[in-house]
Amino acid sequence: MNRKSHHFLRLFFTGMAVVLFGCTTLMGAPSVISPDTVSAAESAHVEPTATLEPQPADDSSSGKRYTYRDMVAGFLQTGPEGGWRKANSESFKETAAELGILLKFHQSNNDYQDQKAAFRDYIDDAEINVIVLAALESTGWDNLLRDAKEAGKVVVIEDRRIDAPEDLYATYVGSDFTEEGRKAADAMCQLLDGSSKKNVVELVGNVGSSAARYRGQGFRENMGKCGITITQSETANWSAAEGEQVMRGFLNKSADIQGVFAQNDEMAIGAITAIQDAGMDPGADIKLVSVDGTYGAFKAMVDGDLNVTVECSPWLAPQVFEAALMALNGEDLPKWIPSREEVFWAEDAAGIIGSRRY
Ligand code: AHR
Repeated sequence: MNRKSHHFLRLFFTGMAVVLFGCTTLMGAPSVISPDTVSAAESAHVEPTATLEPQPADDSSSGKRYTYRDMVAGFLQTGPEGGWRKANSESFKETAAELGILLKFHQSNNDYQDQKAAFRDYIDDAEINVIVLAALESTGWDNLLRDAKEAGKVVVIEDRRIDAPEDLYATYVGSDFTEEGRKAADAMCQLLDGSSKKNVVELVGNVGSSAARYRGQGFRENMGKCGITITQSETANWSAAEGEQVMRGFLNKSADIQGVFAQNDEMAIGAITAIQDAGMDPGADIKLVSVDGTYGAFKAMVDGDLNVTVECSPWLAPQVFEAALMALNGEDLPKWIPSREEVFWAEDAAGIIGSRRY
C-alpha cells in the first residue's frame, strides 16, 4: 500500500471517529461563535492521528472540507503583561481544547525579535496550517506574512493591529483601539465636568504597539470637547510597577493634576499607589480612567480608587478559530472582525465584579 493511500485510510478512519463521536459538537458549533456561546466539546482534546500536508488555504480543488480537528494552530503571544494578557492566553488554550484544535503556543516575553523568529519557525513547521499573531510591534511583518502565504498557511491577526497589506493575512480579530481612546476621553470629560482645571497625565503602553498608538490618538480626538489638556505623557509599558514609577515622576514635577488616562488597568493600578503615597485620594482628588476591564480594575473601582475602565476584551479565541476555519475552507472573510466592548463605571462595579472571567 503506498504512502498516499495509507495516509488516506488514516484520515478516513480518523474522520469516521470524529463523525461518530465528535460531529455533534462540531456540527453543533454555532455559526457565529462569541465568547459566551462556544459549545464545550464532549471530550478533552485528542491529538489528531493524521498529520495533514499543509494545503493552500484556498484548496477548493481537492474538495476537502476542513474541521477544527484538522487545525494545527501556532499562536505567537506577546509576553506576560498582567491580567489582560493572561486571560487572552487562557482564551486560546481553553477554546482550542474545547474545539479539538492542536495548539502550539509561543510566549515571546515581549521580545520583538524573538516573536519574529518564532513566526519563521511556524512557517517552517509542516504540521501547522494556521498561524495566529498578537503582534508586539505593528510594523515589520510583510516578508514573514508573504512567506507564510506562499507556504499555504492561514494567518489571523488577533488583539494588536499591524501595518501590512491586507491580502497577506486572512483577517484581524480585535478591538477598535481608537474608539477606546475616544470613550476614555468622553468619560474623563464627564468626570471633570465643572472642574476649573482639566490637566490630565497619560500613561502609555509600549510605544510601538497599535494599542498604544491608537488609544492615544482617540483620546486626543475627543478631549477637546471639554477643554482637557494632556500636561504629561510617558510610557509605562503596560506594567503596574512602571505605572507607579512614572506617576511618581509626574507628581514630583507638578501636583496640579486633575485626571489620569492610563492606557491599561495595570498602569492605573500602579498610579493609584503613587497618588496615595503622595497623600492624595485617587478617584476623588484625581480622577482615573483606564482600559481593559480586568478584575483588578473592578476591584479598584469597588474600592473607590478608579473611576472608569473601558473594556478591551481578551476573550478573542472563539472568533479567531472560527475565522481561521473559514479561511482554511476558502471562504471569504471581512478584513476586521471587531470584539464587543463596554464602558464600566465605579458605581456599577460591585454588581458586575462577581461575573468577570478575568
Ligand atoms: O493589546 C491589548 C493591550 O495589551 C491591553 O490593553 C494591555 O493590557 C495589554 O498589554
